[in-house]
Amino acid sequence: MTPPALFQDEAPKTPQRQLRNRYDGRDKVTGKAKYSAEFPVEDVTYAYIVQSTIPKGALVSIDQTAAGKASGVLAILTPFNAPKLPVASPQPPARRHITVLQEKDIFYNGQPIAVVVARSLLEAMQAATLLKITYKSQPAQLEFKGRLAEARPPKQPGREPADSKRGDISTSLSNSAVTIDVVYTTPIQNHNPMEPHATIAWWEGEKLNVYDATQYITGDRQTLARTFGIPVDDVRVQCPFVGGGFGSKGSTWSHVVLAAMAAKVVGKPVKLALERGQMFGPVGSRPTTAQNVKLGATADGKLLAIQHDVIVHTSLMEDFLEPSAMQTRFLYNSESNVTSHRMVEMNLGVGTYQRAPGEATGTIALECAMDELAHKLNIDPVQLRLINYAEKDPSKDRPWTEKSLRQCYTDAADRFGWSKRNPQPGQLREDNNLIGYGMATATYGANRSAASAIVRILPNGRAYIGCGTQDLGTGAYTVLAQACAQGLGIDPALVDVQLGDSNLPKAPVSGGSQSTASIGPAAAAAATQAKLKLFELAVNDSQSPLHGLQAASLDTQDGKVFAKSSPNKSDTVTAILQRAGGQPIEATASAEPGEDRTAYTSQSFGAVFAEVAVDIDTHMVQVRRIVATYDIGTLVNQKTGINQLQGGIVWGVSSALHEEAHIDPTHGRTVNETLAEYHVPVNADIGTIDVTVTGIPDTKFNPLGARGIGEIGITGAAAAIGNAIYNATGKRIRDYPITLDKIMQA
Ligand code: MOS
Repeated sequence: MTPPALFQDEAPKTPQRQLRNRYDGRDKVTGKAKYSAEFPVEDVTYAYIVQSTIPKGALVSIDQTAAGKASGVLAILTPFNAPKLPVASPQPPARRHITVLQEKDIFYNGQPIAVVVARSLLEAMQAATLLKITYKSQPAQLEFKGRLAEARPPKQPGREPADSKRGDISTSLSNSAVTIDVVYTTPIQNHNPMEPHATIAWWEGEKLNVYDATQYITGDRQTLARTFGIPVDDVRVQCPFVGGGFGSKGSTWSHVVLAAMAAKVVGKPVKLALERGQMFGPVGSRPTTAQNVKLGATADGKLLAIQHDVIVHTSLMEDFLEPSAMQTRFLYNSESNVTSHRMVEMNLGVGTYQRAPGEATGTIALECAMDELAHKLNIDPVQLRLINYAEKDPSKDRPWTEKSLRQCYTDAADRFGWSKRNPQPGQLREDNNLIGYGMATATYGANRSAASAIVRILPNGRAYIGCGTQDLGTGAYTVLAQACAQGLGIDPALVDVQLGDSNLPKAPVSGGSQSTASIGPAAAAAATQAKLKLFELAVNDSQSPLHGLQAASLDTQDGKVFAKSSPNKSDTVTAILQRAGGQPIEATASAEPGEDRTAYTSQSFGAVFAEVAVDIDTHMVQVRRIVATYDIGTLVNQKTGINQLQGGIVWGVSSALHEEAHIDPTHGRTVNETLAEYHVPVNADIGTIDVTVTGIPDTKFNPLGARGIGEIGITGAAAAIGNAIYNATGKRIRDYPITLDKIMQA
């Protein structure tokens, strides 16, 4: 039997020197890769978070007499006895996203109100049940849809203004031959990566160490330093592997600070791993949205008016905006374009970044409304989008660094067989199913930040690259191995990669789909500098065949250094280093975005097509096929890149059909806080996913030509499925997720 490809030895380098398999694949599947809660730390103790059971009010007392006497208990921390921190919350009050036992106020049901530390987890959990907690309750706001009239603007300015306006929208609407005015709603979603949040913290004197499941070791380090009032250099954060992030681990949540606080109090290492149910509240969620989209077009499909007004829920702790209308400002041409974002305050945990925050929900409303318009105009949905194609960024009136969305539409439509679609709903039937085709546009911004890396060329012919980034399971190890190998001209299999340690050169948060675009250039720069140092050694070494040549005239490949003009003149990397004393060569370098970020807009796009089968009796929806093509610049690694896009699409299926947090209207707790009841797709829910990319390098954006791919896969996918359900059934469900009861009642 041939072993599956994952277990085969690395293929010889492809022309792009891509790693065919994940650098860390073997360690992952054999269990060698350690996640934050798995590190053996001597003398570790266990902490358990106790959560509020009321949604609003204040703590009156916590009687810990019985709990304190329970077996194995080492400490019980509450707002009545917890150490006062120099910084009560890690950010100014208006952006307080966590509570760390510094106040008695209750903002939501599920808020951490105590921490029990014990010799074992079971003892900590048992003692927690013995706490006698008295609250003073107040009426809570737990309703969203009935309170949209109360919506207010965000208090904190975002990166882009909350509102935008171009043209005269009412004139454009009244001049339109056809208009659409619809409201789409999307639910609260909670983060559920395979690995729930976990922290192990211990102090060495005044120095704090943590293993933490995080998307941002540098941010963790800064937040912990500020919160405890200690120098940044006295905090070390390690996180070599992350079992999924998606935005959930981009912030330093309460439990990280509480683990460190507890470790200080008991004078021992403390492990604090959240239970699955604790993922629903204290660590952020995607806000619920109500989105009004108005479109106006001429009879031949030219958009005159686009209006997208978004209302989201927000917590009482900080304003987090799910910016659902941002893509609407530039996705299509139109003489008028108006968007707004408003918020309704609720007694729930804070909102947070969740895969494609904004676009994931915003493309549902916009791209379904476009489908409604296409139907009303009797124009093909792809054609409608091509008629209104934005050749440049209409919101900023400037060119794109690269855009091949037109090719995405045609490539994906061809592979999908879009021409076979019947525009009239309900016409295509197979057995007991109605079959429908739908499509949507996908889009996500291209981000990039400053990043640094260190490269060493070792005398044994291997190389090392270190970078203070983190691999969420997405491929950072693989990309760094590739970039280093490419820069040094060696086989990627000879590169050792280290990341996930705040002692390494700094890298940005692995969020906003920016890691590869940020760390790739840093790795390349460090490799180039190390290589130049190697060349200098060679040309200055009288024993080298390269002696006396110009360093810049050399190149390297497969462990050899040679003169570009006469490749026969060569030396080996190992010989050069051995003669120079057998020490490694080392270079640290940084890379950051170029100057002209205002001259262009960098944005990724895609086209996603879906085929659904809807059972005539049960109304159950099966997504049979998704075919998508993305315009994301260079695809840096085939396997990890395509996997990312596929994963985003799977979450799109989840958003379309399954996923939704249900809030108890009286007590404000999430009712379905388990993976049994918080529905996400399983393998049987996912049909064929066929993904390609246009692969046109965006070298105006960065030297790799690569824009990010972490988030774009979720965008558009849920709209394409909703549009396919309409094409199958003639029923337009505007309240997501599209569960079978809604189809039945429509
Ligand atoms: Mo992403 S939501 O920026 O991890």
